[in-house]
Amino acid sequence: MSDALDYLLKVRPEALQSYFDFIKKSGKHLDKKTKAIISVITKVDNQTENGFKQYLVRALQAGVTPDEIIDALFVAFPTLGLSKIIWATEIILKLDIPEFRIEQIGQAGKWYKIGELDSLKDGITHLEVHDRELFVYREGETISIYDSHCPHQVTNIPALAIKNNIMSCPKHGWKFDIRTGECIENGDRPLKQYKTKIEDNMLLAYW
Ligand code: FES
Repeated sequence: MSDALDYLLKVRPEALQSYFDFIKKSGKHLDKKTKAIISVITKVDNQTENGFKQYLVRALQAGVTPDEIIDALFVAFPTLGLSKIIWATEIILKLDIPEFRIEQIGQAGKWYKIGELDSLKDGITHLEVHDRELFVYREGETISIYDSHCPHQVTNIPALAIKNNIMSCPKHGWKFDIRTGECIENGDRPLKQYKTKIEDNMLLAYW
């Protein structure tokens, strides 16, 4: 929520609550993905950059694929026009979201080798593999792999942002517990986590 909305909610809770109730109920017959796609398109139409980044991440978390986002932009061409589609695409490219890279578009997911199990110490390891930045958290047999992009507005969180198992996004201060990936302060969405498996002492992740 923006600071302005937060302020208005405090000084006019009755009025703003009705607005939030309306937003909540207005899409009750739509499935999660459709709702997420419509939200993305409205942000492109308004050209609100932060809102677009935020709803883009939400859509990806809801299971919308990059191909579906691109299709939605083209389907909305009559109202958006080419310039707004280009505007949105430039932001997507600037964000460098791995799923949107040309080599990933249209590809089925697969397992990628991350590293030999013996080389991973307990605690946090920051890795750059297969063109992705990842955080690996290991506690004995338990291993979690997270994408380095913040689930708020896709900031690439640097390795230095972790202290005592708490990762703080430098952009707006969302804090995450790296042991679980959960957001524990300032925000409401967890880090993106990849599926993992171990084969012959090799750690693999799926994307
Ligand atoms: S991008 Fe806003 S907290 Fe990370």
